Amino acid sequence: MRHIVYIFLLLTVLSSCKHDPTFEIQSLDEELQSAIKRNSPTNDPKYFVMPESDDYKNLPNQDPHNPITKEKVALGKLLFFETGLAQTPKYPNCYETYSCSSCHVPSKGFLPGRFQGIADGGYGYGTLGSSRSLADGYVETEIDAQGNRPMTVMNVTYMTNTLWSGLFGANDKNVGTQSLWVGLADVNHTGYAGLEAQNIEGFKLHRLAINDKVLYTFGYSRDISKEILEPFLTVRKKGPCYFLAKPVASPAIKVHHLAL
Ligand code: HEC
Repeated sequence: MRHIVYIFLLLTVLSSCKHDPTFEIQSLDEELQSAIKRNSPTNDPKYFVMPESDDYKNLPNQDPHNPITKEKVALGKLLFFETGLAQTPKYPNCYETYSCSSCHVPSKGFLPGRFQGIADGGYGYGTLGSSRSLADGYVETEIDAQGNRPMTVMNVTYMTNTLWSGLFGANDKNVGTQSLWVGLADVNHTGYAGLEAQNIEGFKLHRLAINDKVLYTFGYSRDISKEILEPFLTVRKKGPCYFLAKPVASPAIKVHHLAL
């Protein structure tokens, strides 16, 4: 009988020590919620809720000279995958064969699917970009593959200054560092914010260009009204290629009749 009492007591003690996961999760949730609130500049956790991706006017870090619109997003989607922009490859066999998406592969989270992305000088694709290899006639030092690993372009609206080093952009962390804007960072003197500065340099670096062929043969000029596009493109026309003009307080680029 004494044994039975002991066992009963032991069971009572054990069951009172029982781990209560519900209670623990609830207290962790509360702790997390108060930490989020504490860290919110507005003291409201909603500050950290991201806007929907088509809620253009609420996307952060927009360049006031170049606000995001539905039309520009549609145009950007075309250009990101446009191998026709591959106008200035090292050798003709790679002419019009690469684009931003050669290195930023959407199905790989906008990363290359291998250590380095290869645009010009690359050949083939493989599963999700994993087996792009050296194109005929190129040696390794001639291909466009950057020393640093590519970054994703997902949610880059949250980036103020781009690249691993934050080099690009005349805004935010780079304000007051003008004396260091030399070499690649020279583009910051245009006054553009991080993403635009990145794209201007990215175009040159990745051997992409917009020229008469892209504009007039591929039909971009038909879809984008010329008067609106030209101030952005022709001010710095050099040889057969167009470069973006300085930011101007001009009307936003309007794209017409894009059939998507
Ligand atoms: C040859 C491969 C390659 C191609 C082609 C390429 N990128 Fe990148 N991209 C990179 C690499 C590598 C980095 C990171 C470089 C660094 O930080 O030094 C990067 C960084 C970026 C970033 C910065 C992201 C951040 O969070 O700071 C953006 C934006 C971007 N690329 C957009 C583009 C666009 C748009 C194009 C086409 C116009 C393009 N890239 C073409 C390799 C590539």
